[in-house]
Amino acid sequence: MTFAHGAKESREFFGRRACVRMEEAHHISQKRLKNPKLASFEIRRTRTFLNRMNLPIALSYNLQVGPIVLLSLLRPKTMRTIFSQSFLMLASATALSASSTVPRRKVVVSGAGGQTGQFLFRKMLALPDEFDAIGLVRSEESKKSLIESGDVPESSVKVVDVTDADAVKQVAKDCSAFCICTSAKPKPTGETDETTGRPIFGFPNGIPEEVDWQGQKNQIDACGPEGHVLICSSMGGTDPNHVLNVLGRTINPDGTASGGNILKWKRKAEVHLMESGKTYTIVHPGGLINESGGERELVLGVDDSTEGTDSRTVPREDVAEVMLQALKHPDLYGNRSFDLRAKPSEEGSPTTDFRALVESLNGKNCDYSLGEIL
Ligand SMILES: NC(=O)c1ccc[n+]([C@@H]2O[C@H](COP(=O)([O-])OP(=O)(O)OC[C@H]3O[C@@H](n4cnc5c(N)ncnc54)[C@H](OP(=O)(O)O)[C@@H]3O)[C@@H](O)[C@H]2O)c1
Repeated sequence: MTFAHGAKESREFFGRRACVRMEEAHHISQKRLKNPKLASFEIRRTRTFLNRMNLPIALSYNLQVGPIVLLSLLRPKTMRTIFSQSFLMLASATALSASSTVPRRKVVVSGAGGQTGQFLFRKMLALPDEFDAIGLVRSEESKKSLIESGDVPESSVKVVDVTDADAVKQVAKDCSAFCICTSAKPKPTGETDETTGRPIFGFPNGIPEEVDWQGQKNQIDACGPEGHVLICSSMGGTDPNHVLNVLGRTINPDGTASGGNILKWKRKAEVHLMESGKTYTIVHPGGLINESGGERELVLGVDDSTEGTDSRTVPREDVAEVMLQALKHPDLYGNRSFDLRAKPSEEGSPTTDFRALVESLNGKNCDYSLGEIL
């Protein structure tokens, strides 16, 4: 980026008058930069600092020059050495970034020891200036294995069973957003269905009605009225007899069915969220795969449509990235419910523009009159 370009952006950032003075002062400070090697070290240091403060890269390039100039303005006579410049440069950068960064937000992520939830939790932990991330796990055992897996501070992890409404409320106090990544997990019971010959599945750690309905409702209700609630849900919700709904369903002696229906319980919670008046983002991923994120073109859709790609899958890491982007940009992703799949890695180009991604929906949202709500 040239200085002229930097000056234009600076003008927008600081106001025209300040910028003109900065441009004048720039020439003075350039003369003073007698030791270019040291100057470039200081610029790198400032850039790292600004990145840590989470200023956009374009702005930090601009500020490579800006702070030096601004310093010249502030103390033109006393800045005799590059060291005094660097000290003031840092002080100036702090003041600038403090006025331009969004305040650090407390955000809760449930299912933080699970697969998608953990990707999201780690992404937030990597942005400590932006998020005070609190990860919820179901048990002490999950907490231990999450911490042992590395780079997760113990103080950021809380053991909370989401079916305990009071405990969820307590941990969600003052949070600005709640990311729900919990789910009942189907597991084979070891028995086989005599008619189909297929393994029978159950939910040993909580049935869908408890985890996906009551547990999600607790999390939605715990987030304040101004909060943003994000849910990692699932595709398939428009089909009441989807295979996921059948898992764990048992037929009672009187012919009625009970248990299972995981997608219907998830959908009930989603409708509860949409009716709550809170900002929502509901992501319905296709089949989740453990492939690297950031390597595929993502495709958004609604109502289990297969438009855009024949692929029915998406890497967990990409789902977490979409949730992170939604969290950062509620203006774009707020009050949206959509499906998410990814093209095979050899097709298309990896998604980097998350504004264009959500705009590809052309305003469409999932239609909850389709499928069945319990
Ligand atoms: N598998 C797929 O192909 C697929 C496809 C589309 C959508 N989805 C949905 O995508 C989401 C993420 O899936 P995933 O496979 O990444 O998740 P996952 O690894 O199964 O993680 C779910 C997490 O929920 C936690 N949990 C369950 N009950 C809880 C409770 N009562 N209190 C607190 N935490 C509880 C689990 O904790 P513990 O580990 O301690 O039990 C686990 O960490 C889920 O909603 C899933 O249904 C999955």
